[in-house]
Order: sequence, then C-alpha cells, then structure tokens
Amino acid sequence: MRIIMLGAPGAGKGTQAQFITERFGIPQISTGDMLRAAVKAESELGKQVKQVMASGGLVSDDIIIALIEERVKQPDCKNGFLLDGFPRTIPQAEALKNQGIDIDYVVEIAVEDEEIVSRLSGRRVHEGSGRIYHVKYDPPKTEGKDDVTGEPLVQREDDQEETVRKRLEIYHEQTAPLINYYQEWAKKDPASAPKYVRVEGVGGLDDIRDQILTKLK
Ligand code: AP5
Repeated sequence: MRIIMLGAPGAGKGTQAQFITERFGIPQISTGDMLRAAVKAESELGKQVKQVMASGGLVSDDIIIALIEERVKQPDCKNGFLLDGFPRTIPQAEALKNQGIDIDYVVEIAVEDEEIVSRLSGRRVHEGSGRIYHVKYDPPKTEGKDDVTGEPLVQREDDQEETVRKRLEIYHEQTAPLINYYQEWAKKDPASAPKYVRVEGVGGLDDIRDQILTKLK
C-alpha cells in the first residue's frame, strides 16, 4: 500500500497518518519530521533548511526529491509507505512519477483556512517520536507530557499565527494545484493514476479516521 496524504498545513495529515500506518503496517514518511530532525542534529542539511522552515517557506525541490528517493529505497518500505508532506509542488509529483514510484491512493483532507489558524495554535508535539496532540481536541493524558515517554511536549516554531498564514498562502499557490493534478490524471488515465479520496477534515478524529479507512479498502 502506497499512500500520499494531501492537505493544508494543520489539516490533520500527521494525525490521520498515525492511524493509517498502524492499520496497514507501513512506515510514515514525513518530510517535515525528517527536516526537523536534521535541524535539531545541526547536520549540513539542517543548516541549509533551518531558516526557510522557520519562516514558513518551502525547502527546494531538489533537496526534498533526493531525500525521498533515498528514503523509499529503505527495506522497511518494501510493503509500502505513507508520504506525509510530499509531494508539495507539481515538480515533486512529477519526480515521483518519473522515478516510476506508483502510488495506490491520494488522500486529501480538506479544512478551511480559519479553522487551521486556530488549530495550529493549540498543537503540541513530542519531538522524539513526532506524536501529535492538541491542547483542546486531542489532549495528552497528563498536561504537557507525551503519553508514551512522559517527556515534555513542545510547540513548533512555525506554528505562530503569522507564520501559519504564510504557510497557508504558499499552500494555496504551490500545493493546492496538486488536487487538480491528481484528479485530472485519475480522469484521463484511471489505470495508471492513484485513486483519489477526499474527506472533510472537520469533526471528531475517529470519525475522520473511519471515513478514510473505509475508502482505502
Ligand atoms: P510539515 O511538518 O509537513 O508541516 P505541514 O504540512 O505544514 O503540516 P503540519 O504538520 O503542520 O500539519 P498536519 O496536516 O500534519 O496536521 P496535524 O495532524 O499535525 O512541514 C514543515 C515544513 O517543512 C514546511 O513548512 C517546509 O518548510 C518543509 N517541508 C516539508 N515537506 C516539504 C516538501 N515536500 N517540500 C518543501 N518543503 C517541505 O494536526 C494539526 C493540529 O490539529 C494538531 O494539534 C492535531 O491534534 C489537531 N487536529 C487534527 N485533526 C483534528 C480535528 N479533526 N479536529 C480538531 N483538531 C484536529
């Protein structure tokens, strides 16, 4: 099973990815998590991308494409994988196609911008694992602590309102065109195109999860 999660920042891609990867026993490949780990480790890659990520911009296609190309060759991807945060531009989607990496499903989670702004201000994450919480909608068992390790949860630097608005602007300019790209491909050539699944991302986490899993059968 090879799946792409598509949607605005904060739409719930990472949250739903946790359920889907568990169900299908496939790894979650989050380009955002990979880049944040590189920044934290202060690697060459981390130094290159730190500034652009903090400002809410997109890292260059070349860097991201090379990262994914390498990652999907790893042994844990032999039965499939879920791409969370990739592709994010038409050239990234084209690179995937040109590398002959077939995708079974594109799952779009649709959420309005204003909902996103209020959602992201309440997001908290466990840095080590990437586990995601929300202070109101998906709180940890103990305030401010990860459920599994008990370690402190943090707020992402790019979740400040001004940066979120910039990320949304970039999403509409560069990533939203992928919706049309995959829908048109599915219409023109359903045999080679990934199946397109769209769910409304507003409502209970479990309801949204059930809608997605039903459509992935
Ligand atoms: P990345 O980490 O991928 O960020 P993003 O796409 O902006 O997505 P988010 O992680 O912010 O949101 P999400 O949809 O996963 O939402 P979540 O489930 O957490 O990328 C970060 C940066 O890295 C980019 O800005 C860019 O610089 C760079 N980058 C990454 N990939 C790149 C690429 N391919 N090309 C170029 N640059 C790249 O949910 C959000 C919150 O809402 C949580 O608190 C959650 O608990 C809550 N929530 C979830 N569902 C619901 C619900 N139904 N109701 C209420 N609350 C909910």
